[in-house]
Amino acid sequence: MQAEHEVVVLRLGHRPGRDNRMTTHVGLTARALGADRVVIAGAASGSKKTIDDITDRFGGPFDVELTDSPRRVIREWEGTTVHLTMYGLPIQNVEDDIRRDLDDDPLLVIVGAEKVPFDVYELSVYNVGVTNQPHSEVAGLAVFLDRLFDGRELGREWENATHRVIPKETGKKVEPVEEA
Ligand SMILES: C[S@@+](CC[C@H](N)C(=O)[O-])C[C@H]1O[C@@H](n2cnc3c(N)ncnc32)[C@H](O)[C@@H]1O
Repeated sequence: MQAEHEVVVLRLGHRPGRDNRMTTHVGLTARALGADRVVIAGAASGSKKTIDDITDRFGGPFDVELTDSPRRVIREWEGTTVHLTMYGLPIQNVEDDIRRDLDDDPLLVIVGAEKVPFDVYELSVYNVGVTNQPHSEVAGLAVFLDRLFDGRELGREWENATHRVIPKETGKKVEPVEEA
């Protein structure tokens, strides 16, 4: 987004069938709230297709990748890694440090599905709680990204959209985007 360095979301633990909707929502939330890319661990081709279709229609840039080796993605990440977990340090205590790190390096934001293996906690530079209460990866990711970008993501420009929403007080309006 406006950040100089890439922000990538890694979605761990996708269970085909059961997690399809949640994984799709992780990707859509990452896209809408300013991340550059989502990497999904596991067989999530349906989620990838849905997120890609939304990007084709409403704009990007935003990329979706699938991986069979999420640990390798974390181990080989050349930058900062943040694992979102209810057991982590409160976001309000670490957000300034993470924002400063993003000035220098790309950022990998890791979210889980069910139980996240303990080595992910050890491999991550920061384990961050959006409250220390259990909730959801979609909610945690949304609050984290909004804090990271300080709300600037809400006004971002979208490129190569075929359609855009015209905001209305009541009702729904979507119109085709004219070629420049
Ligand atoms: C439904 S939770 C299950 C987590 C599982 N109980 C565990 O211990 O790993 C799925 C994901 O939501 C995210 N999450 C849930 N609560 C959170 C919180 N308070 N702060 C940050 N992330 C949270 C985490 O990324 C977590 O892996």
